[in-house]
Amino acid sequence: MAIKWTSDLSVGVEKIDSQHIVWFEKASNLFEAGKQGKSKEVIAEMFDFLEEYTQQHFRDEEQYMAQIKYPDIEKQKTAHKNFVEELTKLKKEFEESGGKISVIINANKMIINWLTNHIIKMDKQIGVYVKSL
Ligand SMILES: [Fe+2]
Repeated sequence: MAIKWTSDLSVGVEKIDSQHIVWFEKASNLFEAGKQGKSKEVIAEMFDFLEEYTQQHFRDEEQYMAQIKYPDIEKQKTAHKNFVEELTKLKKEFEESGGKISVIINANKMIINWLTNHIIKMDKQIGVYVKSL
């Protein structure tokens, strides 16, 4: 499954969009490494990068929502928290499997579907709200 940010995923807030673009790049690197059968260490490192970046991005997005007094911020925070938990679970699964690449490959779809859905259904609303201010 190719992973690329496309303009139909634009939220219309530059900072959020540019972070989403980087996020897709990091996820793509992880899955490519998996497909290429890179070592457990390389994949674990990329997983860490993705996890860290995800948390940073969510923090920034939440800070921005607080700043503009976005009404649905709590819903967003819950969604973010759930996703971080999913990532942590996957990371654990990967470690416990002894670095099985299939864990990463199987996670590909889930991760991309989640983010794409989240952007389209929730993050885009932030852009709509900003325009209404
Ligand atoms: Fe979000």
